[in-house]
Amino acid sequence: MSATTAPPAATHGKATAVFTCILAALAGLMFGLDIGVISGAQQFLQKDFGIGDDTLGWIVSIMMLGAALGALLAGWLSSQLGRKRTLILGAVLFVGGSVLCGLAWTPHVLIAGRLVLGLAIGLASFTAPLYLAEIAPESIRGAMISLYQLMITIGILVAFLSDTAFSYSGNWRWMLGVIAIPGALFLFGVGFLPESPRWLMMKDRQPEAEQVLRKLLGSNDAIAREIGEIREQLKTPQRGWHLFQQNRNFRRSVGLGVLLQVMQQLTGMNVVMYYAPRIFQDMGYATESQMWFTAIVGLVNVLATFIAIGLVDKLGRKPILYIGFVVMAIGLGVVGTMMHLGIHDHGQQIFTVVMLLVFIVGFAMSAGPLIWTLCSEIQPLKGRDFGIGCSTFTNWVANWLVGLSFLPLLNGIGQAETFWLYAAFNVVFIAFTIWLVPETKGVTLEQIERKLMAGQPLRQIGR
Ligand code: BGC
Repeated sequence: MSATTAPPAATHGKATAVFTCILAALAGLMFGLDIGVISGAQQFLQKDFGIGDDTLGWIVSIMMLGAALGALLAGWLSSQLGRKRTLILGAVLFVGGSVLCGLAWTPHVLIAGRLVLGLAIGLASFTAPLYLAEIAPESIRGAMISLYQLMITIGILVAFLSDTAFSYSGNWRWMLGVIAIPGALFLFGVGFLPESPRWLMMKDRQPEAEQVLRKLLGSNDAIAREIGEIREQLKTPQRGWHLFQQNRNFRRSVGLGVLLQVMQQLTGMNVVMYYAPRIFQDMGYATESQMWFTAIVGLVNVLATFIAIGLVDKLGRKPILYIGFVVMAIGLGVVGTMMHLGIHDHGQQIFTVVMLLVFIVGFAMSAGPLIWTLCSEIQPLKGRDFGIGCSTFTNWVANWLVGLSFLPLLNGIGQAETFWLYAAFNVVFIAFTIWLVPETKGVTLEQIERKLMAGQPLRQIGR
C-alpha cells in the first residue's frame, strides 16, 4: 500500500473517528424525532381536520410502514450507492417529509408526508448502525451502538419538548415541520462524512479506502492492519439469502433476531411514545399537564438508558432483560389496575403517572438498547447483513402494528384491559428469555458463530 507520508498523531486519528461516529449517530436523533413528534400533535390534528381515531391511527402508524419499506430497500441501496449517499438520501427525504407534514392541507397529504418520513428513517435505521460498525475503532465499537440508542431517546425528548412548546398555541404544523431544521443540519453534517472504507474496498477502490483510514487511524501500521482485516473479511461474501435457504442453523439465528424485535415492540413502549398525552388525558389531566408529563416521560427514557450503558458489560444481557421485563410488567399491570378502579383524586393520578414512569425505566434500561445489541451479535458473518436486515424490518412492522392497533384496542377491549394485555406480554417474555436468549457478554462474535453453526441450542450459543 502507498502509506509513505508521515502519519499524523494517532490521537488525532481517534478524535476524527469519534467525531465521525457522533455525526453518524445523529441519524439516531432523526429516528427519535420521528417517533416522538406525533404524540403531541394528535389532539390538535383531530380538531382541525375533524378526523376520528381510525384516520388518526393511520397518520401515526403509516410512518412505521414506510420505515419497514425503507429498511428493506436500504440493504440494496447502501451496497449500490454506498453508505454515505444512502444516509444523504435519508436526510433529504427526512427534510422533505417534515416540510410536507407541516404544510399538509388534507389528512391524506399528511399520511403521504408521514410515509416519506418513514422511508427516510428506514434507510437511516439500517445504514447508520452499519456505517458505525464499519468505521468505529474496535475499542469504542460497543459504546457507539449504545450512543445510537441514546440519540434515539434524545430525539424523542427533543420532539416532546418542542411539542410542549407549540401546544400553547395548538400549532401542530410547527410541531411537525420544525424537525426539518435538525434534519437539514444532519444533511449538512453527513456531507462531511467519509465513505466507509469497507464499502470502498468492496468496490475495489483501495486507494480511497486508504485515504479515509489515514484520517481515521493516523498511523501507517494501523492502516495496513485494517486494510488486511477488511480484505480478510471480504473473503467471506455476504450470501445471506442463499445461506438462509441452505442452513437450518442460520434460519434459527434469523428467527431469534425476528423474535427479539417482536418482543421489543410488544413490551408496549411505543404505545406510550405515540399516545402519551392521550393516556394522560384518560387519567384526567388537562392539555398543559399532559404535555409536560409527556416531556418527563422523554427525560426518564433518556436518563434510564444510561443504566443500560453502565450495566450491560458488567451484569450481562440476560439478567438486565429479566429485570426489565419484570419492572415493565409491574408498571403496566398497576397502570391498568388504576384505570380499572378509576382514578378519582390527585394522589391516585400521581401514583399512576409514577407507575407509567417505572415502566419507561424498565424499557430504557433493558429491551431498548439490548435488543439492538443482541440482534447485531447473534448473526454469523456470512449472513450478517441479511440477518440484521430481517430483524430491523421486523422491528418496524411490529412497531406499525402496535401503533395501528392501540386505539382500536382501547375502544374495543377497554383501557385497563389493553394495559394488562401488554403487561402479560412482558411476563411471557421472561420465559422466552430463559429458553431462547443467549448470554453474549464477554464472548467474541466468532465463538457465537461457531456454537450456532455447530447446532447448539440458541440459549447456549453465548457463554
Ligand atoms: C425502539 C423504538 C422505541 C425507542 C424508545 C428503540 O429501541 O426500537 O421502537 O421507540 O427505543 O426509546
